[in-house]
Amino acid sequence: MFEIPDKKLSILISADKIAARVKELGAEITREYRGKEVVVVGVLKGSFIFMADLVRHIELPITLEFMGIASYGDETKSSGVVRITSDLTKPIDGKHLIIVEDIIDTGLTIDYLLDNLTTRHPASVKICALLHKPERAVKQVPIDYLGFNIANQFVVGYGLDFAQKYRNLPFIGLVEGASE
Ligand code: IMP
Repeated sequence: MFEIPDKKLSILISADKIAARVKELGAEITREYRGKEVVVVGVLKGSFIFMADLVRHIELPITLEFMGIASYGDETKSSGVVRITSDLTKPIDGKHLIIVEDIIDTGLTIDYLLDNLTTRHPASVKICALLHKPERAVKQVPIDYLGFNIANQFVVGYGLDFAQKYRNLPFIGLVEGASE
């Protein structure tokens, strides 16, 4: 189905498993945020598929924003030095934020984002991540809504890339030869 001529790809988390978990996360968020003004902030590019699926399971009148982030690290390593390439379009003071990330690896990116967004005086900030690699944590950040913990492996698909490729895979896969 997906041809990746130079690499071997295996499925780590199937599309069905992801869909079931994302539905649960949406239901949890719906229960906890009833009556609040919620802004869901997707971190581009990696979160775009997760965000699209998640928000369709949040049964509340939420608004959506995106932040574009570029890491100064190389293709597979986070340097912790983050550049905002595209910012929120509206002020967020007094709003309840949910930051949606594809994966929390070292935690450096989300730590930077938390600091940055907190200075804009939201009523609250919570983090929702599809994946987390606990073994790799450098910064401990509270992940309020988490899809799956995974081992220290490089994964692609469902928004996640390797050298900008494989984001369109409908599952989370492992690419042989993609190292950390
Ligand atoms: P952190 O700052 O180390 O937590 O890294 C966060 C970012 O690194 C994620 O938003 C991804 O863009 C990227 N990343 C970390 N691990 C992986 C992976 O296994 N596959 C693809 N991208 C990853």
